[in-house]
Amino acid sequence: MAERELRIAEERAGELRREIDRHNYNYHVLDSPEISDAEFDALMSELIKLEEEYPVLKSGDSPTMRIGGEPLAAFSILEHKRPMLGLDNAFNEDELTAFTSRVGRLSGLEEIEYLCELKIDGLAVSLQYEKGLFARGATRGDGTRGEDITANLRTIRQLPLRLPEPLTLEVRGEAYFTRSDFEKLNRERSSGELPLFANPRNAAAGSLRQLDPRLAAERPLRLFIYGSGENSLKIETQGQLLQRLKDLQLPVNPYHALCGSGEEVTAYCRRWDEERRSLDYDIDGVVVKVNDIELQERLGATARSPRWAIAFKYPPEEKMTKVLDILVNVGRTGAITPVAVLDPVTISGSTVQRASLHNEDMLREKGVMIGDTVLIRKAGEIIPEVVKVIREKRDGNEKEFRMPKRCPSCGSKTVRLSGEAALRCINPTCPAQLVERIVHFASRRAMDIEGLGPAVAELLYEHDMVRDVGDLYYLQKEELARLPRMAEKSAANLVQAIEKSKENPLNRLLHGLGIRFVGERAAALLANSFSSLEKLASASMEELTAVDEIGPRIAEAVILFFKNEQTGIVLEKLKNAGLNFQALKTSEKGGGDRLSGKAFVFSGGLETYTRDEAAALVRAQGGRVSSAVSGKTDYLVAGSDPGSKLQKARDLGVEILDEAAFKQLLDR
Ligand code: IVH
Repeated sequence: MAERELRIAEERAGELRREIDRHNYNYHVLDSPEISDAEFDALMSELIKLEEEYPVLKSGDSPTMRIGGEPLAAFSILEHKRPMLGLDNAFNEDELTAFTSRVGRLSGLEEIEYLCELKIDGLAVSLQYEKGLFARGATRGDGTRGEDITANLRTIRQLPLRLPEPLTLEVRGEAYFTRSDFEKLNRERSSGELPLFANPRNAAAGSLRQLDPRLAAERPLRLFIYGSGENSLKIETQGQLLQRLKDLQLPVNPYHALCGSGEEVTAYCRRWDEERRSLDYDIDGVVVKVNDIELQERLGATARSPRWAIAFKYPPEEKMTKVLDILVNVGRTGAITPVAVLDPVTISGSTVQRASLHNEDMLREKGVMIGDTVLIRKAGEIIPEVVKVIREKRDGNEKEFRMPKRCPSCGSKTVRLSGEAALRCINPTCPAQLVERIVHFASRRAMDIEGLGPAVAELLYEHDMVRDVGDLYYLQKEELARLPRMAEKSAANLVQAIEKSKENPLNRLLHGLGIRFVGERAAALLANSFSSLEKLASASMEELTAVDEIGPRIAEAVILFFKNEQTGIVLEKLKNAGLNFQALKTSEKGGGDRLSGKAFVFSGGLETYTRDEAAALVRAQGGRVSSAVSGKTDYLVAGSDPGSKLQKARDLGVEILDEAAFKQLLDR
């Protein structure tokens, strides 16, 4: 009997794994899901339950194994079967031509085909499959030996744990972060007052080298495979190799091109210098490879790099400017961050006036002084970063900056807690922190209280009108109108905006409360999983970590927050004021996932948004964005010059939105 039960369970587990793998592939690689997230989650929970009930069914290639295992003390070392070489660089078109000419000379051939690929700006990884199963993976390391990051790689949804054929082979590729995921992660970290990543590449590096795979699982790492190591594939060209990898359901970047001459190679590089801006991930150049593998082998390699390939590098946009001053900012958890005030410069189309110096260590490492000339880069084209000081430009008038011994706001001693890079003010009644907490609470992505920015928050604090966010709900119009610089009309508007915020969904309130590590996304996950604030407040470690994507670190912070006496007082004020503490029932959910499961394709230019912005708005509401129209597309958003996608959408009967209709859908 028991045996029969086990056999049935085993069969079902196999079925579920195949189904889940297929949906994973459809979603994460093909960008074309067939089922809703909820349906997917149901399959996953069924499998988890089965494996818990019948532990003998657990296996290394099960999708449940992606979730993340036990933390490691250190990574072990893996030897690469074939060295992972680097690439020589070409920094301009002359150097590129020199490369193609050299290949021509060495091979003695007149016509040579090149396969051009995007050079993804991430981290090189090697994946080993044994009889079709993902066995282990490593970083590049020194090229001969890398670190064993198998557990973290398993968490990447685009990485097949099982290939469709039982092959033993090594494949190589690049792990990376998309720009939108990077921005989201930093937004999340900034609301949890965690140090920010400077760019998507650093975010990917930090995630891959995370010793706790459960933390790695919280990070949306992605992967492109571009080559193979040891293998028995009978392949003649790089183009065929990419096709074969794709057929093996490995994620291959689609934008490669076969070029018949050096001129075509140059044209490809020029084209992508422009078009790279429309991608959601960073590329730092193009990799040009001799297409014919026999010829590759004939050309061979030096100790460092192959002679048959070169990296054509795009220069990052960098500008020089002066550091006018260095200020410190006190965040809402007391973290004190140095900020460079810059002589304004324009980089990649926007004006940069400030650059975060992150923390004391970073400041010291870069050696920035007031009055220095520095090189500024928009890292990942988003956050301005001080690349380095141009020391030759110093004239002796530069002033050293020291982090303050006392909090610039309340004057209490600053401390550096062990294990932290940030200097902190640990006075819980520090005015700067209180004001920052109110500003955060009222911010657009939290309680969205219009008219309550830093200046007003400070004003309210100075006049003893608020000491915590609970006090906001007891402000009187008349009282506010008596404040300097506050007209009667603005006082009335503010009271009204505060009143309106009482109705906000629980996720916004949770985000606004500023629980450590709980940013927008974690707040939404928690609000979705607990029916009310009270339920969340009394949740145990187990209940909290049972929520998908909520790890022990967040769970602990939530518990600590609700244990705090001060929290109790604030929540009481909020409750008495009539704020919404209830989570919405699934049927009435709006906001965070209104577009859940809806697939969008954009075509043509939009007036009010860039492509990335429009895509981010869709994703923010739970929708998905694909590049191609298919039967699974829900909406085609057609801008100016929509091109062939519009016809395809018409043919398939996909709903077509113009920009106005798209905006309406977003704001509904
Ligand atoms: S081929 C022997 N192709 O660029 C050839 N590399 O120094 C090995 N990279 O970190 C590299 N995109 O991981 C190749 N399409 C691509 C690539 C690529 C990014 C990275 C690679 C390594 C660096 C090369």
